[in-house]
Formats: sequence, structure tokens, C-alpha cells
Amino acid sequence: MGQLLYIQASPRGDRSYSVSAAHAFIDAYRSAHPDDMVTTLDVFERDLPPFDGFMLQAKYTVLHGASPTGEERAAWDQVTAIVDEFKAADRYLIATGMWNFSIPYRLKQYLDIIVQPGLTFTYSAERGYQGMVTGKPLALICARGGEYPPGTPGAALDFQRPYLETVLRFIGFEGIRTVVIEPTLMGGQEAAERARSSALARAAELGAEI
Ligand SMILES: Cc1cc2nc3c(=O)[nH]c(=O)nc-3n(C[C@H](O)[C@H](O)[C@H](O)COP(=O)(O)O)c2cc1C
Repeated sequence: MGQLLYIQASPRGDRSYSVSAAHAFIDAYRSAHPDDMVTTLDVFERDLPPFDGFMLQAKYTVLHGASPTGEERAAWDQVTAIVDEFKAADRYLIATGMWNFSIPYRLKQYLDIIVQPGLTFTYSAERGYQGMVTGKPLALICARGGEYPPGTPGAALDFQRPYLETVLRFIGFEGIRTVVIEPTLMGGQEAAERARSSALARAAELGAEI
């Protein structure tokens, strides 16, 4: 039995475009993998620890090649538990809106917790940075109010999709499949519904084949 980890990063419930596409993905996924477990991690509901204080110091300790002790160790154990939960999945789905050209702060907080030396990436002078979460498929659903098509001036303002794809590649993911839903606001209701229905169709295709 495999596990799909669905990371939900919109707090808008039924009004969310990214969540509705994620549901289309998951419905198709469940049909294709009836024995798999689907776990939802809602970053707005989950009690994520602030990434500061001893936790931050522990990261530097590890980056300097040492092992955290005392209060740093306790903080690092919290990080390790969250990373272990992340790495336990076999497949991943992340669904998010664009907030201020980038991602919602709760998703950033989650990424700041899980992107860690020795846990999700390594560094050596000989080999540089290497991701540790390898060989697992990941799909991304990115909703945004405006439009940022590649090859247009608007694309330069898109710090959502390129950022997520970059940080996820950094920790080892390859062949990331991304569904974009745009414009959900700025083109009016009809354009938003057209964007939603083509995104739902694409998300369902991906859910069946991932
Ligand atoms: C705090 C906040 C900031 C936003 N900033 C942007 C933005 O910079 N660019 C944009 O195109 N849309 C922006 N939007 C609109 C959302 O991207 C859009 O509503 C999208 O559908 C949200 O995803 P969701 O429907 O899954 O919640 C913003 C929305 C919020 C709540």
C-alpha cells in the first residue's frame, strides 16, 4: 500500500480553485490506486512550530557539520519528526494559491521546516548540493488571480511556480508536473470558470497517471 501526501495551502475551503483541482486529482488517484492511503496536510490547520530560536541554531549547527545538543537537539527532533512524516509518502500533491506573487506564508513556513541539511539535502565540496527526496513523483497545482504566461512580461512576476519548482528540485524531486489555474480573479467569472474546468480535467489526468 502506497501513500499520497496532499499538502493543502489554501485556507479558502470550497471557494478555493487549487483545492477543487486537488480534489479532482485525488478522486482520479483513488480510482487508480484503490489500496493507497491519501493523507491531507493542511498547512493552515496544522500546528507548525515557528522556525526560529533553537531550531534555527540547530540548522546552523548541522550545516557546520556538528550534531545539535541540549535545547537545540530537542528543537531539531521536532524538525526531524515533521521531515520523517513528509518523507514517509510515496507520492506528493501540493495545491496552493499565489499570494503577493509568491506562496502563502504557511506553506513557506512548512518548507522552511522541511528543507534541511542531512534530512532532505546534503552538501559536499566534491558533489555540491544533492537532494535526498528522490525517485518520488510530485504534482503541483498553482492558482492565481491574474495571468503570468511564460514568454510574456507577466512571467517575470511569477515567484510562485518557479520558486516551488526550484525548492522542490533542490530537495530531490524530478519531473514535477504542474497544473496552473489562471486567471481566477482578474479575467472575470467566465474566464475563471473556464480556467477551473480545464485545470480540473488536467488534474484528473495527472491523478490517474502519477
Ligand atoms: C493575500 C493574497 C494575496 C494575493 N496576491 C496575488 C498576487 O500577487 N497575484 C495574483 O495573481 N493573485 C493574487 N491573489 C489572488 C489569488 O492568487 C487567487 O484568489 C487564487 O485563486 C487563490 O488560490 P485559491 O483559490 O486556491 O485559494 C492573492 C490572494 C490573497 C488572499
